[in-house]
Amino acid sequence: MCYDKRKGGGNLKFGIICVSDRCFRGECEDRSGPAIAQCVAPLSTENAYRLVPDEKEQISAAIAELADDFGADVIFTTGGTGFAPRDVTPEATKAVIDREAPGIAEAIRAQSLAITNKAMLSRAVSGLRGKTLIVNLPGSPKAVKESIEVVIDVLPHAVETMSGNTQNCGGNYGK
Ligand code: MTE
Repeated sequence: MCYDKRKGGGNLKFGIICVSDRCFRGECEDRSGPAIAQCVAPLSTENAYRLVPDEKEQISAAIAELADDFGADVIFTTGGTGFAPRDVTPEATKAVIDREAPGIAEAIRAQSLAITNKAMLSRAVSGLRGKTLIVNLPGSPKAVKESIEVVIDVLPHAVETMSGNTQNCGGNYGK
């Protein structure tokens, strides 16, 4: 389980972007997008989903659209963070964020390294575009679940502070 319902939540809008040439061409089914939706369900009031190929402009455009037009509080991308020549999700993300939020990507990588040393092969980044937090995740459903587990507890407070409410910073959020 990614998130314990008893902690509250359920009022966030999520953008989910699958970045995959093969899924985009219809050669395989995206299983990571649904895994993200399942993990965030207890926190979510509404999700918007996009499937794009590993093309920097299309990834950037999908992030900008879900942030600016859909008004997502949090956008998770899945895929395209590795070393393959067409893995450009981090570059596409950096092109459309205003501010970096490196702690999130660092935390995911650090905790993922306790599970697999291949976690060091993810170049995932995270950052803010206006009042939207964007978090890159690796492409597999397993990696998606392991990564969201790391950050899900802090998302309500992250969204709260993005909106300018820092009242609960000294409080009992997360651990
Ligand atoms: N992180 C977690 N938590 N679990 C995983 O299984 N797989 C790694 C890494 N991060 C993995 C992980 C692997 S094998 C790769 S190649 C990189 O993420 C990049 O994945 P991507 O190219 O699908 O984005």
